[in-house]
Amino acid sequence: MPKKVILDVDPGIDDAMALCIALFHPELEVLAITAVGGNCSADQATRNVQAIVEQLDPPRWPRIGAASPPEQALPVEGRYLHGNDGLGDVELQVAELRSRHPSEKVISDAIRSSPNSITIIALGPLTNIARVFQRDPELSSLVDRIIISGGTVHGPGNITPAAEFNVYCDPEAAREVFRSPSTKTLIPLDVTNRIMLSYDLFNRLPDEATKAGRLLRKILPPAFRAYRQCFGLEGIHVHDSITLTAAIHPELFTFKEMAADVETMGELTSGMTVFDRRRVPAWRHNMEVAVEMDEKQVVATMISDLGGKPAE
Ligand code: BDR
Ligand code: CA
Repeated sequence: MPKKVILDVDPGIDDAMALCIALFHPELEVLAITAVGGNCSADQATRNVQAIVEQLDPPRWPRIGAASPPEQALPVEGRYLHGNDGLGDVELQVAELRSRHPSEKVISDAIRSSPNSITIIALGPLTNIARVFQRDPELSSLVDRIIISGGTVHGPGNITPAAEFNVYCDPEAAREVFRSPSTKTLIPLDVTNRIMLSYDLFNRLPDEATKAGRLLRKILPPAFRAYRQCFGLEGIHVHDSITLTAAIHPELFTFKEMAADVETMGELTSGMTVFDRRRVPAWRHNMEVAVEMDEKQVVATMISDLGGKPAE
């Protein structure tokens, strides 16, 4: 039976790539895609979700959740890597949303109607999920699992020296979700940084005759340019697509139970994920964390799940 999932996203080029996999994958039933501000503003994220679903036109359309403006302005947006509009400024066409149901309502309603059977795959800041738990704390025990793209255990951050982007955007929300009694899996930068989508891999993606190929071949080239300009790299990170792959193929990853929290105050460390790795830890384990993956197999699986060509 396909796994019932909600994708909470801030598209975002790697979010969009994750949606290209999820919306056509036989092992997933995508009940809803909910937007959250992060790589772009809340309104833009909603527009991007709608545009991606329209472009992909999957056999079953998910419900779409509209991102509410955050309580505090986003400290930063992902513009320098994802473009001003979050999707490489390629100007995807979009129809006006007819009914704008807030993301947190879409998530709450779905969990209430299918208790203990929905996995939330969180690919952006944890703003929506924290709001769901604030509105109705019981829901944190009724969600089957939350799989989170974010944080870093050993490494440096990717938006400040200490913090990973998604956690940095809304550290209070991340802390609330980390501390909630929900069952959680974290896919941190330590793991997702190990894979780069190279030009060779790009050339193995499906061609423009397919809906996913058309979308990816529009939005990925601006990301390649941004990575070259910002980092001098000839490839791009696809953190969220790796997290999605972990949700579908957990056997390709090794997980460890850990105790994690989020720094919300530090002048230099706001948004840092902190793990109790002392010899005798005092904090209780509150999530499983991906610590290893079969890199070759994850890449091959990601390309194949996108409908791409196998390596020659
Ligand atoms: C995360 O930051 C965003 O820019 C990406 O979409 C991903 O979710 C990785 O740190
Ligand atoms: Ca994202």
